[in-house]
Amino acid sequence: MIPNTQVGTWLDIGPVDQISPGNARTLPVRGGEEIAIFHTQDNQFYALVNKCPHKQGPLSQGIVHGSVVACPLHNWNISLKTGKALGSDEGCVPTIPLKVEAGRIFLLREAVIPVPSAAKAA
Ligand code: FES
Repeated sequence: MIPNTQVGTWLDIGPVDQISPGNARTLPVRGGEEIAIFHTQDNQFYALVNKCPHKQGPLSQGIVHGSVVACPLHNWNISLKTGKALGSDEGCVPTIPLKVEAGRIFLLREAVIPVPSAAKAA
């Protein structure tokens, strides 16, 4: 997990045991990007927007190894910690601040739910 000292509202998305180690689940977001939440074999949790920076492959369906997910479409390796493509590939997918407390997973609300544009005309 990314050490997290961010201030904000945290969304409780359920118990840690809903995702077995080495797997991921998705969280649809109305009006926003689907999020992929990963549980690594060493018991860490990460959240990323569920779109590969290459051609938007569903990262949640990739293979997790260490703190990296291999995209299921063309096998780019994406860091779960930073969202960056590794090796010679370039690109980055947004990460979502996540914390685990009392056996439950929390995501930073402000990073999940899009803020309505105040600039929209009525
Ligand atoms: S879409 Fe992920 S590697 Fe191409």
